[in-house]
Amino acid sequence: MASIREVPASSPKRFERIGAHTHIKGLGLDENLKAEKIKDGMVGQEKAREAAGLVVKLIKEGKLSGKCIILAGPPGTGKTAIAVAISRELGENVPFIQMSGSEIYSTERKKTEILIEAIRKCIGVEIHEMRKVYEGEITSLNINTAPHPYNPYQRVPESVRLTLKTKEEERTIEAGASIAQQILSSGISEGHVVQIDAETGRVASLGLSLESSKGKTYDVDTRRKIPRPEGKVLKEKEFVYVLTLADLDEINARNRSGGVFSLLFGGSETKEIDTEVRMAVDQQVKEWVDQGKAFIHPGVLFIDDSHLLDLEAFSFLGRALESELVPIIILATNRGVTRIRGTDVKSPLGFPIDLIDRSVIIATHPYDAESIQEILRIRAKEEKIEMEDEALEKLTKVGANTSLRYAVQLLSLAAQNAKARGSEKIKKDDVDRVDELFMDVTEAAEYLKKYEERLMVH
Ligand SMILES: Nc1ncnc2c1ncn2[C@@H]1O[C@H](COP(=O)(O)OP(=O)(O)OP(=O)(O)O)[C@@H](O)[C@H]1O
Ligand SMILES: [Mg+2]
Repeated sequence: MASIREVPASSPKRFERIGAHTHIKGLGLDENLKAEKIKDGMVGQEKAREAAGLVVKLIKEGKLSGKCIILAGPPGTGKTAIAVAISRELGENVPFIQMSGSEIYSTERKKTEILIEAIRKCIGVEIHEMRKVYEGEITSLNINTAPHPYNPYQRVPESVRLTLKTKEEERTIEAGASIAQQILSSGISEGHVVQIDAETGRVASLGLSLESSKGKTYDVDTRRKIPRPEGKVLKEKEFVYVLTLADLDEINARNRSGGVFSLLFGGSETKEIDTEVRMAVDQQVKEWVDQGKAFIHPGVLFIDDSHLLDLEAFSFLGRALESELVPIIILATNRGVTRIRGTDVKSPLGFPIDLIDRSVIIATHPYDAESIQEILRIRAKEEKIEMEDEALEKLTKVGANTSLRYAVQLLSLAAQNAKARGSEKIKKDDVDRVDELFMDVTEAAEYLKKYEERLMVH
């Protein structure tokens, strides 16, 4: 029997930096995609939310891949919040990757390499595969042990003989050490329904058989119970995996020999992924799609603070948008007209004009005091912070005068301050104190400017 190795995780890994956005549960739209003033942790900003709702709908219908969406608005107006809400609305099966424009700058890897990897993490591939498996309820199980080769006092599983029963037949099979080991370590015994991959020997327990004596007797047993399988013991079954292109790259890079399908059941050391591997994966995926064995689910790549990207990165993204396997790209920026990084050219949003031309833009607007107060109230609840009305009034005022983001940060700091003086509830004094201790951007800029002037004089 084949040796058994660890199976790579099938779900895409997500990395999220959303500490400040945990209260966002969705876009807060009704069934006609109209925004309700307060819903799903979202407050106000109705137009942007409704636009985002349309985008989600198109993404779900698969009509938006290769498009670019720009979220533009002043700092603290909820651009990141809306992107987080979009990811919530898309659900678990659509890959959503969030990164900051600054993440492309690394001393170890090329910018384009980082972007390619991010893009490939956003493309889901649903693969359907027929595999031969032995399946049935275990009616008898004998594990033979032998002395350990290095330590004769210890015994290790050497082989296994087991009888599998379906509604139609019963068959006894014999297998080697690796299968015996898997059966022992996952606590599989008589009465379990198992699936053993005929080619790789991977063992999976599906649950207890309802017809077995164990399945009948233990009423309080919480293990999953399923009926005894139908059909023959050895059969072909369809398996469905949802992986991303990045997962497939990794699997393929791990083991360049053999087809990718069988590699889903094993792999060894990870190597650097080169262009050749990616091209092979793309080729393979396209073939599967043509043969009806795979389906593509384009996800979303969200690049926050995109004005930090440079011309090289923008032109790479522009080119990527034209290729076949590409996710929806959402770029957020709070810049008006600024220099495109890596050039002397000034441009709206700090993006190249041709990229803007190809995008739809969703604008976010500054909040009124009422919305700010509501958002602060939601944040306080989310962080389990209690505060007096006066303190909330004061924080709202700070938010209206400076930025919402600053007010949200002060909220957590004020809570710490309250705790430090032994109280669970924030008072106005706590807000005043932290407001005094910390600076918002304008204050900081003014202060530094003054300082700069002093240095210039000397
Ligand atoms: N409409 C909203 N409803 C609820 N919470 C919101 C809303 N808009 C913003 N927030 C919250 O306010 C804080 C600041 O907003 P956010 O970080 O999304 O702003 P931003 O536009 O991304 O700012 P920046 O340009 O500085 O990145 C976050 O904690 C966010 O979750
Ligand atoms: Mg942001």
